[in-house]
Amino acid sequence: MNWTTLLSGLRAERRAVGAFNAILIEHAEAIVAGAERSGLPVILQISQNAVRYHGSLAPFALACLRLAEDAAVPVLVHLDHVEDEDLIREGLDLGIRSVMFDAAKLSYAENVERTRAVVERCHAGGALVEAELGEVGGKDGAHAPGVRTDPAEAAAFVAATGVDSLAVAVGSSHAMADRSAVLDEALIAALAKSVPVPLVLHGSSGVPDDGLRGAVGAGIVKVNVGTRLNQVLTEAVRAVLDERELLTDPRRYLAPGRDAVRDEVARLLTVLANADSR
Ligand code: G3H
Ligand code: ZN
Repeated sequence: MNWTTLLSGLRAERRAVGAFNAILIEHAEAIVAGAERSGLPVILQISQNAVRYHGSLAPFALACLRLAEDAAVPVLVHLDHVEDEDLIREGLDLGIRSVMFDAAKLSYAENVERTRAVVERCHAGGALVEAELGEVGGKDGAHAPGVRTDPAEAAAFVAATGVDSLAVAVGSSHAMADRSAVLDEALIAALAKSVPVPLVLHGSSGVPDDGLRGAVGAGIVKVNVGTRLNQVLTEAVRAVLDERELLTDPRRYLAPGRDAVRDEVARLLTVLANADSR
């Protein structure tokens, strides 16, 4: 599957692909199963924080790559929010062909310089690069309004770095427990007009379905979801454990959690693929 073609096709059609974060193998299995159930492509993301949790990249990444290879729909394994450039090198060596290099905390000039170098290395290895401009809040736990992405600066950033997609700050915030974020659709439309590559929405768990439809209609092409999957997984696990206090076999409580994630992935992918029908 040529993902550059797939993403630019979605961009032209004002549709979007879901990009879901996996921490456990059960997440990864559920993300692939949800995509297969909906018959739609999906992006399976491993964040630098998830790598830190496991202690290394290779075992989990190789499992995800194998799940992607065996899937009945196109699945792109993507490294998410990577600040450590060595991790990008390791991902490329393992066969990962999509990364988000996150230098949003740096100054504009430093962000451009370091992102351009990452793009050069990744393109030489056949991998796509996403970068962030502006700052989507919430990564450090605080849901501050964040610095919105400026359309003219975003266009200049893409031209200067050669990135394949751009994460923009348009009102969402990471790790929101409720779906109450209100996005700036006029800003998304202005960004889509001035930026020639697909736009990425981070912190999408905090955005209600109608907000997602509006964002896609305005020009968002990749929608990143993490927290929402953890909510449905944990709720399902908790329900089983509350009911059966003596249960110890993790398969008995993780299987319902995995099913709940699969259902939510399939549901969200369908919302994103039919955003214009709101
Ligand atoms: O990069 C990952 C996403 O931005 C996930 O954000 O956990 O708030 O859905 P979320
Ligand atoms: Zn994010």
